Amino acid sequence: MCPSYVAMHGYAGDGGRVGAAGLPSEYRHLTVNNSPARAGQADVYVAVDKYVDTFKTGDRVKSLYLYSAEPGTGKTTTAAALLNEYLTAHYIGCLQRGETPLERPAFFLDVNAWQKDFNAFNRPRVPEEIAEPAAARYYRTMTIASKVPFLVLDDIGVRDASDAFRADLHSVVNDRTANGLTDVYTSNIPMADMLRLFDARIADRIRDMCGEIHFVGKSKRGRR
Ligand SMILES: Nc1ncnc2c1ncn2[C@@H]1O[C@H](COP(=O)(O)OP(=O)(O)OP(=O)(O)O)[C@@H](O)[C@H]1O
Ligand SMILES: [Mg+2]
Repeated sequence: MCPSYVAMHGYAGDGGRVGAAGLPSEYRHLTVNNSPARAGQADVYVAVDKYVDTFKTGDRVKSLYLYSAEPGTGKTTTAAALLNEYLTAHYIGCLQRGETPLERPAFFLDVNAWQKDFNAFNRPRVPEEIAEPAAARYYRTMTIASKVPFLVLDDIGVRDASDAFRADLHSVVNDRTANGLTDVYTSNIPMADMLRLFDARIADRIRDMCGEIHFVGKSKRGRR
């Protein structure tokens, strides 16, 4: 097998850097070129292509907010493709600069799944054998998400979040923003509305380093 294929995807089972990124398996071979969302989102993908070019400079990469009120427009698909592009650019860039690539340069945070783990150990009368692994997973994920250079926060606009969960989510975003790390958000609420939930100082900082892209059209879910 090609050594760089092994570096990205690993030997059978371990998943390599793509596995460490926590990307759902259906997204593992997605790129911005083969993304099914490209066809219906021509304007969006002009911006997406420009954004991917910034991965190759070695400079700090801006954050991006992928928004549409309508579900199923390709936001998560595009965020996953961006993550894969970042992994490749990081790997190649490091080799070109004679540096050792990170084992986990990027991570996919499914905000809903993370919230589910939170609820599993914060509800009364949840059996220990469910609560304990959920708590372990939850805090492991939080540590990774706070530090990884490139983070996808899929579905940041979760509606029914408790104050306690929201505080953890905000702490992750806060740490990342303070350290100039890169976020790609997907959401069904506009960035301005999402930022209203943050305190004003952090909201300003997020806004300063984050571009917003609006996905258009109706849901493509179920069409293939
Ligand atoms: N332009 C398109 N043409 C064909 N299929 C598409 C297109 N855009 C997205 N899809 C497909 O539609 C499905 C939903 O896409 P995706 O999950 O990326 O949407 P989303 O915007 O994240 O939705 P939600 O707002 O519900 O999270 C996926 O199976 C994806 O492959
Ligand atoms: Mg989505």
